[in-house]
Amino acid sequence: MPSLNDIRSTFLNFFERNGHQVVDSSPLVPRNDPTLMFTNSGMVQFKNCFTGVETRDYVRATTSQKCVRAGGKHNDLDNVGYTARHHTFFEMLGNFSFGDYFKPEAIPFAWELITKDFDIDPKRLLTTVYHTDDEAFEIWKKVGVPEDRIIRIATSDNFWQMGPTGPCGPCTEIFYDHGDHIWGGPPGSPEEDGDRFIEIWNVVFMQNEQFEDGSMRALDMQSIDTGMGLERIGALLQGKHDNYDTDLMRSLIEASAHATSQDPDGPGNVHHRVIADHLRSTSFLIADGVMPSNEGRGYVLRRIMRRAMRHAHLLGAKDPVMHRLVPALVQQMGAAYPELGRAQAMIEETLKLEETRFKQTLDRGLRLLDDELSGLDDEAPLPGAAAFKLYDTYGFPLDLTQDALREKGRTVDTDGFDAAMAEQKAKARAAWSGTGETKDAAIWFDLADAHGATDFLGYDTEVAEGQVVALVLDGESVKALEVGQEGWMIVNQTPFYGESGGQVGDTGTFLKSDGSGTVSDTQKMPGGLFAHRVVAEKSALNVGDALELRVDHARRSAIRANHSATHLLHEALRNALGDHVAQRGSLNAADRLRFDFSHAKALSAEELTQVEAEINHYIRQNTPVETRIMTPDDARAIGAQALFGEKYGDEVRVVSMGAADTGKGSNGKTYSIELCGGTHVKQTGDIGLCVVLSDSASSAGVRRIEALTGQAALDHLATQEARLTAVATVLKAPAAEVEDRVKALMDERKSLANEVAQLRRELAMAGGAAGGAGPEPVEVGGLKLFAQVLSGVSGKDLPPLIDEHKARMGSGAVLLIADTGGKAAVAAGVTGDLTDRLSAVDMVRTAVAELGGKGGGGRPDMAQGGGASAENAEAAIAAVKTLIAGE
Ligand code: ALA
Repeated sequence: MPSLNDIRSTFLNFFERNGHQVVDSSPLVPRNDPTLMFTNSGMVQFKNCFTGVETRDYVRATTSQKCVRAGGKHNDLDNVGYTARHHTFFEMLGNFSFGDYFKPEAIPFAWELITKDFDIDPKRLLTTVYHTDDEAFEIWKKVGVPEDRIIRIATSDNFWQMGPTGPCGPCTEIFYDHGDHIWGGPPGSPEEDGDRFIEIWNVVFMQNEQFEDGSMRALDMQSIDTGMGLERIGALLQGKHDNYDTDLMRSLIEASAHATSQDPDGPGNVHHRVIADHLRSTSFLIADGVMPSNEGRGYVLRRIMRRAMRHAHLLGAKDPVMHRLVPALVQQMGAAYPELGRAQAMIEETLKLEETRFKQTLDRGLRLLDDELSGLDDEAPLPGAAAFKLYDTYGFPLDLTQDALREKGRTVDTDGFDAAMAEQKAKARAAWSGTGETKDAAIWFDLADAHGATDFLGYDTEVAEGQVVALVLDGESVKALEVGQEGWMIVNQTPFYGESGGQVGDTGTFLKSDGSGTVSDTQKMPGGLFAHRVVAEKSALNVGDALELRVDHARRSAIRANHSATHLLHEALRNALGDHVAQRGSLNAADRLRFDFSHAKALSAEELTQVEAEINHYIRQNTPVETRIMTPDDARAIGAQALFGEKYGDEVRVVSMGAADTGKGSNGKTYSIELCGGTHVKQTGDIGLCVVLSDSASSAGVRRIEALTGQAALDHLATQEARLTAVATVLKAPAAEVEDRVKALMDERKSLANEVAQLRRELAMAGGAAGGAGPEPVEVGGLKLFAQVLSGVSGKDLPPLIDEHKARMGSGAVLLIADTGGKAAVAAGVTGDLTDRLSAVDMVRTAVAELGGKGGGGRPDMAQGGGASAENAEAAIAAVKTLIAGE
């Protein structure tokens, strides 16, 4: 009896013998199709070959494609395990022709493989064709199928479409008659849904392309796409009626029975079947980079995992089970899919973690379910609010609750569930608008409600396809952005990182069939949306457009290096200065990194040297950077650094790097472990080099370090070297020249200093120096007051800034307080029309008194003073307001 592995090989060998290239299965997360959640048939990776957009160096291909069908709104999970042929994961065998052979060859190929290589009795076979497809009908007759066994079908069953748009065409299907001891009728008959006649192969004649507006065109070339479920043909060739009785599925069922010490064929059989199926989908999804989460693909994975875990629970398993079955799966399928073996450790770890976590709430959730049911009439559906509580508090996906109720013959009030979910969203929304942080927050909530969160693919790839689901221009949702208009774009999935956690948003480009455009920024919006700041070129950008999204690789690489270096810097600082060092803020941009941390005094030259040396030591160590998902408690238990006061969800991403061999942690442990959602280098060596530029005071008790990595660090060192060379030349030059050169250098220094001062002023006017947007003038005692606290500018810079602000306001008073690295500088100004009511001198004196200084002086329209520290700046502003209000 051939095993499933034998059958897969027979299929691929047959087509290889007939001139087909054996192509590897593509990943379960489609790289080239933004509309699909998971790869669900063999043709997905060849979609563009059928339309002619893509050409490869072969025109005939054959694959065994891994497929998952479990996403989307429909509750497809529900039947899996209970029926003979439902799976979340299956393998689709297929042969493909891209404009090469067509019907006259495809049908004989199929017939020969089935009746010769697979040796299936032709008398048990019948076929269907699309009702108008006389050509296919005639070819079947020619290969020897009697006319009464070729059935014309007029419905969409025999016209295959991959989705609402894309290549499509009529198809022919081959059915197997399992015999009259099983109920059911041939295709097209009223009893066709019975189990007697089972479809085993679908051969699609790709000859059309369907468009969004419903129109269809004939494709220039005619192609073939076929799909045969390995599990079905396997059951047939192994003389079984049930896919779960094939050798491969059976071995997984036995592994489950063994791990739970239960009879594989006892009353727990259905649980073993669920576990066997779900073990395959979850393991393959994890191997392809999907991680359990509460959004998109990750949530589908979580639903499948948790469903399997409940069935393990029903088998009486006290400890996590799923991860112990992975070796059996790798043994069965690892040869055909080497990625499974490569990811084995990660699959086991992810399954174990999820099961351990879920177990903590599973018992309590099931008890709640029982309590709720005991208070209900028999047959009454579970109220939606109870199902929602199970979801929200105990992590029970809706379909898991439905699955649990199914055994008791009961259902859930899904409308009530949806209503409870909507109510929770409305609350979140009310809370958000209350903060007033984003003017147009409402529109993002509406869009998030309508389209769901954006799926972020950027941890694994910098290029991916996405479909435009919404466009926003000036705070309004629009159908299109015309060429040159700048607006926000939401896509269903994106490789672009949205600014967060100190890491700047990605930039890059997008391409579409008739145009392109730029992405100048990416921001995270409420509801898990990633908004891309875009401008379209050549043609308008429309909702519904399919795009290729390309992150600027060089920029992302530099950001990645800076972000990873920030983690090393954080740990090096803790080693050099002590455990009181905690992150207070950070910036990971393309050109530099900045890290603010709690520490009372300036770093000594030795400390800075030690920190820099330690970072570079771990860069050279060149160990892989690892990312894991875990609960916040588990993360803390392994010593992960978290942001103080930050609210984390019920799962966190943990980034680790370096094998500690220096400093306090030098006991072979991981060097740096941090909670972080950012993107990082693969190996620490990718950072290249890190140069610490400066240490300065950021605010009271907080220091700021700026540093460079990679090429920027090298460029910086080169400039330093050039300066030293210039000084050396001066020192070596004859005495007469020295004076000139020194003068030239001094002049240059002066003009640079002026330039820096000018830039600082410009930055301060833009609101940048204080690290955020500048405040707006406020109305006090009948006049306008503009008050601002600045850092990064000196006392000398203040008068010109006062003039600027006065000019901008026309009429009013200005108060500027600069934190000049410990001390405070104060300046005030009053426009000429108001000097008889208010004097700048009084303003300065009032402020200075609050800042621990004395005096201050100048004219009624402009005055200056100084204080001991800018710590009480807000109090100083308040005192000046009182002064003005009292006038
Ligand atoms: N693409 C076709 C199917 O999935 C063969 O049935």
